Amino acid sequence: MRTQVGIVGAGPAGLLLSHLLHLGGIESVVLEIKSRDYVEKRIRAGVLEQGTVNLLIESGVGRRMQREGLVHHGIQLRFAGRHRRLDLFQLTNGRAITVYGQHEVVKDLIAARLVAGGPILFEIADVSVHGMTTATPTIRFRKDKEVLELTCDFIAGCDGFHGVCRPSIPKGTLTLYERNYPFAWLGILAEAPPSSEELIYAYHERGFALHSMRSHAITRLYLQCEPDEELANWPDARIWAELGTRLAVPGWTLTEGPILQRGITGMRSFVVEPMQYGRLFLAGDAAHIVPATGAKGLNLAVADVHILARALVEFYSSDKVDLLDRYSETCLPRVWQAQRFSWWMTSMLHRFGDGGAFQQRVQLAELEYVTSSRAAATALAENYVGLPLGWLPEASPLG
Ligand code: FAD
Ligand code: PHB
Repeated sequence: MRTQVGIVGAGPAGLLLSHLLHLGGIESVVLEIKSRDYVEKRIRAGVLEQGTVNLLIESGVGRRMQREGLVHHGIQLRFAGRHRRLDLFQLTNGRAITVYGQHEVVKDLIAARLVAGGPILFEIADVSVHGMTTATPTIRFRKDKEVLELTCDFIAGCDGFHGVCRPSIPKGTLTLYERNYPFAWLGILAEAPPSSEELIYAYHERGFALHSMRSHAITRLYLQCEPDEELANWPDARIWAELGTRLAVPGWTLTEGPILQRGITGMRSFVVEPMQYGRLFLAGDAAHIVPATGAKGLNLAVADVHILARALVEFYSSDKVDLLDRYSETCLPRVWQAQRFSWWMTSMLHRFGDGGAFQQRVQLAELEYVTSSRAAATALAENYVGLPLGWLPEASPLG
């Protein structure tokens, strides 16, 4: 088998890359270890930045999102029993976020690829990548009982944090930057109408809580928990009681409902530099992970593949390798801004066991500041709705 770009992973990064390449007249094959049903039902991110929304619309895969997505102009912060709203729309001159499940984006992208005849091979196994520093890198894999080889001009490693592409790069080539946090999130999806029209981020002495949603009938909620927490220790009644306590403000009640799904997610910051080795390009979670507090992971994956698709289109249309060679240095400044923002939101909103009363007071002061100073609120808002897709520091210096 032969293709121009072999893409490992049918998450948002791999599928959107394949779609953007198709629009640029470039062939690709997407290889995925899970089934179509599995990736279409995997509940993960829910907040799309304005730039992500614009790209999905401009590339022709935004119709259902425009119909069903919930456009939010603000978020709420709750702390010390109070509630404050940040008007994202006003603070960013008319930008907003759209609440639309990642699995819905994945469904829309798979449908678009299949209509266009784009091959996606699901349920493959034993994937390995070879010849990354040659002109014809290959991907070997097993489909049913047959071992197959896909010869490519380029490989895109879009196989997430636990994939095979990044570990296939020789040791010592990449620099890893990492931070693990001493807590995790217990997340639930509940059949209950949202108890608020906007997302609520809550800082409480018992720990962080987040109220989000997927539709007018489905709520998505998270609780800070121990990193090694067992789901078995959290019967439904305990989850609802804890959410109710941490999100409480006078006069507000949390609507409960049957819990449809639950899971525990670790909190980690991680970046590799560079995001390229020879003709293997890493994109999305394969190259970087952010703690979910900033709602940035999916959006970063979209920004990476936007840049990678542009570079590949330039290569195939003019034989120029400049943009491909500059892939990492173009992506990384924005990746680090998202890392900084996600780390900052995480640090402001979670209880750290060893922080003591001093850290708690500083966190409360920070929350007071961010909800009372226009400058601080603007800094949060412009990062939350998302920096421009090709953000570079030199493009917007202050002085
Ligand atoms: P993935 O979605 O992980 O896709 C990788 C794909 O590769 C998968 O389908 C996997 O099955 C496949 N794969 C793995 N190994 C192989 C292999 N060897 N061969 C072939 N295929 C392979 N981000 C936001 O922007 N906003 C949010 O609100 C947000 N909330 C989140 C909440 C939670 C609870 C979690 C867990 C994450 C959240 N994120 C959020 C992060 C976001 O979900 C990820 O950043 C996003 O999924 C990254 O997309 P990706 O395509 O790079 O990787
Ligand atoms: C979600 O809706 O899943 C969600 C929202 C905001 C976050 C993280 C996750 O920061």
